[in-house]
Amino acid sequence: MENRPQWGTRAGFILAAVGSAVGLGNIWRFPAVAYDNGGGAFFIPYLFALLTAGIPLLIMEFTIGQKYRGSAPLSYARMNKKYEWLGWWQVAISFVIATYYAVIIAWAMSYALFSLNLKWGDDPTSFLVGEYLQVANPGEFGGMVPGVLIPLIIVWVITLGILFKGVKKGIEAANRIFIPALIILFLFIVVRAITLDGAAAGLEAFFTPDWSQIASPTVWVAAYGQIFFSLSIAFAIMITYSSYLPRKTDITNNAFITGFANSSVELLAGIGVFAALGFMAAQSGVDVSEVVSSGVGLAFMVFPQIISEMPALSGAFGAAFFICLTLAGLTSLMSIVETFVAGIEDKFKVSRTKAVLVGGGLAALVSLVFATRGGLNFLDAADYFINNFGVALAGLVEVIIVVWVMRELSNLQKHANSMSDIQLGGWWKLCLGFITPIVLGYMMIQNIYTNIKENYEGYPTGFLIWSGWAVAVLAIILGFVFMALKWNKGTELDVPENK
Ligand code: PHE
Ligand code: NA
Repeated sequence: MENRPQWGTRAGFILAAVGSAVGLGNIWRFPAVAYDNGGGAFFIPYLFALLTAGIPLLIMEFTIGQKYRGSAPLSYARMNKKYEWLGWWQVAISFVIATYYAVIIAWAMSYALFSLNLKWGDDPTSFLVGEYLQVANPGEFGGMVPGVLIPLIIVWVITLGILFKGVKKGIEAANRIFIPALIILFLFIVVRAITLDGAAAGLEAFFTPDWSQIASPTVWVAAYGQIFFSLSIAFAIMITYSSYLPRKTDITNNAFITGFANSSVELLAGIGVFAALGFMAAQSGVDVSEVVSSGVGLAFMVFPQIISEMPALSGAFGAAFFICLTLAGLTSLMSIVETFVAGIEDKFKVSRTKAVLVGGGLAALVSLVFATRGGLNFLDAADYFINNFGVALAGLVEVIIVVWVMRELSNLQKHANSMSDIQLGGWWKLCLGFITPIVLGYMMIQNIYTNIKENYEGYPTGFLIWSGWAVAVLAIILGFVFMALKWNKGTELDVPENK
C-alpha cells in the first residue's frame, strides 16, 4: 500500500491548484502587463500563450506528479536518476520566492489594518517608504523593522500551522475556506470599483485594443511570461500537488479548469484595478495612462490613495482589498513551501512535522532579511532576477529535458489519456516540443541581453551581482548539492507500480 497522503476530493485538489495559481501576480501584475502590451489586443497573444504553453505544461506537470508520485526531485529522479537536480533547482527557486513572498503578505496584513483609519495620510508613498518600511540605501540592512516583523511572524505561524496538519486536513481544508472568502471579497471590490465615477474611462483604457503592437515580439514574450508566472509552472509546485492525487483521476480536465479559473481571476482583476485607476485619474483630473502602475507601487502606493479618495465605505473597501491580497498570497505561499517540505520528506524520510520545522523554519529565518530596512530593495532585485533567470530558465530546461532528452512525452500522453476525459493528441506534443521551447529560448536570450546592456532599475552593479545574479546562480548550485546527497534507504526510487 502506498502511504503517500492524498487529497480528500477532486474539488479539493482543484481548489488547492487554483489557490496556488491565483496570487499577487493576478491582482497586481496582469492588469498593467495587459495594458502595456496592447490593452484589448493583448488578449490574443495571452490566449495563445495560455493554450500553447500554459495549459500544455500544466497538463505535463500534473501528469508527472500523478504518475511518479513524488515531490519534484523524487519525480524527476524516478523518470531518470540523472535529472534529480532539475527538481531541486525548481525547489530552490521556490524557496527563494517563499522568503520574500511571505514579507509582501505581511505588508498586506498591516495595510488591511491601516485601511481602517487611513493611516497612510495624504502621502501614501512617503508613508510606505519612510514611516512603514523605513527604507535604507540599496545594499544596506539597517536593522529590523518591527512593523513588518510582527505580521511576518503571523504569516509564518499560519502557513506552517496549516502545513503541519498535512495535505487533506491542512492545505485542502485551508483552501476550502480561503478561496471562497477570496472570491466574495474580490467580487465586492470589483463591483464597488466599477460603480465609481470615472470607472468607465479606466475600463476603456484597459480594453481599447492597440493593434499596432500585436506584431511586436515583446508583446508575445510578455504574454508567455505572464502565463508562466501566473500558473505557477516550473516552480515544482504543480508536480508536488499532483503527486497527492489518487491513482485514478482525471488529469487533463483538471488542468483546463485550473488554467481557465486563474485567467478568469486575472480578467476580473484587470477590470477592478482599471476601474479604480479611472476613478483616481478623474479625481485628480489627469489621464488614466498617468496613474497606471503595478506591483508594490500599485498595491501600497496607488491603492491607498484610491482608498483615501473613496466617497464612502473607504475603510471597508481598503480592508477588503488588502485581505484579498493576503488570502491570495497565503494560498500561494502554502504551495511554495510545500515543495521543499515534500522534497525533504522524500529525500530524508523524516516526518512531515520535522520537514515543516526544518524547511519552513529555514525559509522563515531567511525571510527576516526582507524585514530589515533594506528589505524593499533586496526584494525588488531578488524578485526580478528569480523570475527572469529562475522560472523562465527552469521552464525552458524542464521542457527540453523532459521532451527531448528523456523523450518522455509519449509515455506521459498515454498515462494522461488512460484516465482523462479530454484526450491529448499531436497538438500537445507540438506545443511542448516546439512552440514552448522556442518562445522560452527567445525570451532568455532577450533577457540576458537587456540585463547586460543596462542595470535593472539603475541599481549599482555590485548590489545586483550579489542580490540578483548570485541568487539565481545559487539556486542551480543548490540543485546539484542536494542531488549529491544520498536518498534515504526507505525511499523507493523505482516507479511505484500502478495497482
Ligand atoms: N502564480 C502566482 C501568481 O500569479 C505566483 C506564484 C509564484 C505562486 C510562485 C506560487 C509560486 O501570483
Ligand atoms: Na496566477
